[in-house]
Amino acid sequence: MEIKATASATVLLLLLAWCCNVHVEAQVPIPAKIDGFVYRGAPVWGHSVVVEAFFDPLCPDSRDSWPPLKKALRHYSDRLSVVVHPFALPYHSNAFIACRALHIANKLNASSTYPLLELFFKFQEKYYNQPTYNLPRASIIKDMARLAVAAIGKNSLSTFLSGFNDTRTDSATRISFKYGCSRGVTGTPFFFVNGMPLSQSGSELAYKEWRSIIDPLLERQI
Ligand SMILES: *[C@@H]1O[C@H](CO)[C@@H](O)[C@H](O)[C@H]1NC(C)=O
Ligand SMILES: *[C@@H]1O[C@H](CO)[C@@H](O)[C@H](O)[C@H]1NC(C)=O
Repeated sequence: MEIKATASATVLLLLLAWCCNVHVEAQVPIPAKIDGFVYRGAPVWGHSVVVEAFFDPLCPDSRDSWPPLKKALRHYSDRLSVVVHPFALPYHSNAFIACRALHIANKLNASSTYPLLELFFKFQEKYYNQPTYNLPRASIIKDMARLAVAAIGKNSLSTFLSGFNDTRTDSATRISFKYGCSRGVTGTPFFFVNGMPLSQSGSELAYKEWRSIIDPLLERQI
């Protein structure tokens, strides 16, 4: 009797959900720590302006947008915090591997994350789709490992490579992607300032544009 009642209740609920078009979504896995690499470990909840940048290490527009943002970091010092979220674009065949490399580097030596990102920016052309068309995945990883060792530190080659066999680094890279998706990121570079999406995202922002965005915010903080 009770089972029957529960069953009819379930049917009723399902019908109700269907009628009202209630959208039941699966829970995206919640990471133990919030995603992102904080530049120089600056605090993000202090009196600074927080820029979140979604970068694909193999995207030319991400590459070109980094120097002006870095210049802004130098100018504002501790009044600007930058958090980079790696975001692998699906049409860049090696982007997920590059993003995973950043997570591995971050785990092995946190201060090597940005140097490795910069190395990817510098040499990204060799990892584009066309020049790697005939290359096996393992040889691309090995090649990236050579770059990574230069940033992480010598003697890191074998630990770096085994990072690619560690499912946790795979999960972390997936979380970065899901995090971007959950915030509506559709391409790179994509910027948020104090949590709000910048409409100029998608192409590089010049240094003076950063100034014109950040200066008024800092004035209003006083
Ligand atoms: C960690 O990475 C930084 C930046 O590349 C480097 O200067 C430092 O020597 C590395 N640490 C070790 C222990 O290798
Ligand atoms: C990683 O796993 C692959 C495939 O199972 C294996 O061939 C490779 O030797 C492993 N690499 C390391 C560094 O453990």
